[in-house]
Amino acid sequence: MHKISVLGCGYVGLVSGAGIAKFGNEVICADSNVHRIENLNKLIMPISEPGLKELVQEMYSSGRLSFSFDIKKSICGCDAIIISVQTPQDKDGSADLSYVIQVAKDIAEYIEKSTVVIIKSTVPIGTAKKIKNLINTRLADRNAEFSVEVVSNPEFLREGAAIKTFLYPDRIVVGSSGNKDALSLMDEIYKAPADSGVPIFKCSNETAETIKYASNSFLAMKISYINQIALLCEKTGADIKAVSEAVGSDERINPKFLNPGPGFGGSCFPKDTRALVKIAESYGVDLSMIRTAYEANKAHKDILATKAVKIVKENNGSVLGVWGLSFKAGSGDMRNAPALDILPLIIQNGIKVRVFDPEAMEEADEYLSEYRSMIEFCKTKEEVLLGADALLVLTEWDCFKNADLEETATLIKQKIILDYRNIFDKTSTKNLGYLYYGVGK
Ligand code: NAD
Ligand code: UGA
Repeated sequence: MHKISVLGCGYVGLVSGAGIAKFGNEVICADSNVHRIENLNKLIMPISEPGLKELVQEMYSSGRLSFSFDIKKSICGCDAIIISVQTPQDKDGSADLSYVIQVAKDIAEYIEKSTVVIIKSTVPIGTAKKIKNLINTRLADRNAEFSVEVVSNPEFLREGAAIKTFLYPDRIVVGSSGNKDALSLMDEIYKAPADSGVPIFKCSNETAETIKYASNSFLAMKISYINQIALLCEKTGADIKAVSEAVGSDERINPKFLNPGPGFGGSCFPKDTRALVKIAESYGVDLSMIRTAYEANKAHKDILATKAVKIVKENNGSVLGVWGLSFKAGSGDMRNAPALDILPLIIQNGIKVRVFDPEAMEEADEYLSEYRSMIEFCKTKEEVLLGADALLVLTEWDCFKNADLEETATLIKQKIILDYRNIFDKTSTKNLGYLYYGVGK
């Protein structure tokens, strides 16, 4: 059993900490946010993820998982330290490494023995090498007789299915300088998933760092691609659902991430596509496809907002009911949610919105505070409909998918649906007397 410290208890740190404890290790999760740690010690989760509370509770009771805001205490005596702090976008779109550098400085200051530093945060190519130099230079200044090895272990979990995608990943990537002790420690940490057949890709730090950005950018390109094909379908009369299914049935393409929607959002695709373009720029390489995927995503949200305004106004309406705010179903995360671009554009055209989301209401209220006078935050999906001239679906939550559209018809002012997640069947919706507008159908 290894003793591991996780620095940063957000989506990645908390899920990885609990997951690595489940794999049989002793984990201490540390965060500089004291309130977050106090809550975690009361088993109050900072994020909503299916199965998270149960796993944390199980690991906490077993004694294999603990929480602390004392960074020094948390890292002293550990075999490995996982860095899982945020790497947000800088003003120019490149990755802001200041949080990673801060924890690296803490590590350099406090460790008392040779330790493996594992970078789980998504970081620009070359960061592992820089962090190793930074820490070892400081250790030399301290006259320490030990040093660190840095391993790149990017994380591929998906919000809304974070526990499942962490415990049962498609692959685990381990980048290193080839140091045998560090690699065997990684083998031991991930013994449980490896034994159950999860492939472990071992490579250089630079390769591992590239794999992470290349994976996210590919998925983002796939979404922008299908969204553009969907816009074409709207003009030609083709049905995007059939197009997407048939295209995806080619196993070289596969059906995943071919669902058109209101544009990709979340804390990673928008920032990681831009960061990779910036990284490539610094090497004189133009990643025009990835840049276009990002720009197309921005344009897509504008097109859908303009379409909503046009339809509401054509029908002499002034109020839009909105189902869903978070960036995708299963997560209450509002970071870069399409709603944050689409709703302001609609509001700026004089249309009031009535909104409901099962998980994201509080966070959305903060993000959209400057538009407060034009937004009514409702308590239920039914309340949203009262006085609404049309219904806009922005997130594909089950409670919306399973809605009774006959009942909805009795509550809404005008029977118009803008289904930006394509959750309803066009024909049956039309049969109920609705005007129906999907994305690409
Ligand atoms: P987050 O913002 O949810 O969590 C980061 C945590 O780090 C916060 O709790 C913050 O208080 C803490 N922190 C910041 N500075 C600290 C310090 N000096 N000491 C201790 N704690 C500190 O971020 P996240 O969504 O978990 O993302 C973390 C990294 O993982 C990012 O690089 C992201 O790109 C990557 N990633 C995220 C996901 C995801 O689904 N969210 C998936 C894969 C990879
Ligand atoms: C994504 C990746 O899927 C993870 O593998 C990765 O670890 C993570 O980013 C990260 O690096 O943070 P996440 O952002 O949680 O995970 O969510 P996704 O399920 O990938 O969805 C991202 C966005 O794309 C959402 O807005 C979603 O609605 C949209 N999407 C997804 C579509 O519009 N269509 C699709 O077919 C799939």
